[in-house]
Amino acid sequence: MEPPEIEIVPVDGEGSFWDDRRGLLACLRETPPRVPAYLGYDALGSELFEAITELPGYYPTRVEHRLLQRHAEQIADLIGYERIAELGSGSAKKTRLLLAACVERRPTCYLPIDVSREMLVASARELTTELPGLRVQGLWGRYEAGLGWLRDGTPEPVTVALLGSNLGNTTPEERAALLAEIAATLRPGDRFLVSADLQKPAAVLEACYNDPPDRSAFARFRLNHLSHLNRLFDADFILEYFYPRAHYDAASTAVQGHLYATEDQTVALRELDLDLILRRGDSLNVGFSYKFHRPEFVAAVAARGFDLGAQWIDGVWQYGIFLFVRSA
Ligand SMILES: C[S@@+](CC[C@H](N)C(=O)[O-])C[C@H]1O[C@@H](n2cnc3c(N)ncnc32)[C@H](O)[C@@H]1O
Repeated sequence: MEPPEIEIVPVDGEGSFWDDRRGLLACLRETPPRVPAYLGYDALGSELFEAITELPGYYPTRVEHRLLQRHAEQIADLIGYERIAELGSGSAKKTRLLLAACVERRPTCYLPIDVSREMLVASARELTTELPGLRVQGLWGRYEAGLGWLRDGTPEPVTVALLGSNLGNTTPEERAALLAEIAATLRPGDRFLVSADLQKPAAVLEACYNDPPDRSAFARFRLNHLSHLNRLFDADFILEYFYPRAHYDAASTAVQGHLYATEDQTVALRELDLDLILRRGDSLNVGFSYKFHRPEFVAAVAARGFDLGAQWIDGVWQYGIFLFVRSA
């Protein structure tokens, strides 16, 4: 049988979003300088993230997978709509549990939104093969562009999903803007399915977000941000001059992925016309993973114009999936 056609719609300028100099410059001028999360997901970065999900100490993927295994049928009943868009879908390995329950109930169209074209193509191919009857239309670009495409399109009801606790990978300002954008995209009655990793002790989090001694998935994922910047912006980061390590900052409740400079150095990013001066011990921030206090999380989403419809939390309250309904 012919493999099904894969439909990928470039919603963010045929990949030109990688070249967003203004956004990157603003982040690099923060203290410490920061690389925006999406720049970690070129083809290799996406593969390395999958390797992270297989690390023995990396609990978020496993816990969310178990929650979806257990509750996909109920979530599918409560969603009730034919269209599901997912922000930052990645491999969609967990989402397919939910999609399988949806296609059993009704015709379903899945709209994954991701910067990684490779992941969109691979996941669309696997999903349409595994779940005949599922229509997949991949939206290639950043969250805002995907949401803009939804807003400009047909007014049919939709569920927007944001799984993998992806919302925790945004800064508080980015998060407020993204929630506002999701609220502005959804119409009354539309659903917002979002997961959140809940607060837990620093030792647990630091064990989760660093490699065990015999593995290097996190180290390679973090250092790959620099290789990607070298390619995109004609930069000369020397990977050997950085030491990757994540710490939990209790004040902000965020795990922060750092690349610490092991030498004094000046890095030229020629396409940005920028020299980044780093002293030994300075850090480059290559990713946040915020951990949420459940009632505050629910209140923050509700304040954007949502009512909590249902929630699914694991037995030891470490991770939650929340179904919100856009209020009138
Ligand atoms: C942490 S991974 C999670 C993937 C998947 N949701 C999971 O739970 O396994 C984040 C995903 O979001 C995508 N991503 C990150 N920032 C993005 C942005 N601003 N716009 C679109 N996609 C983004 C990445 O390419 C990656 O596939």
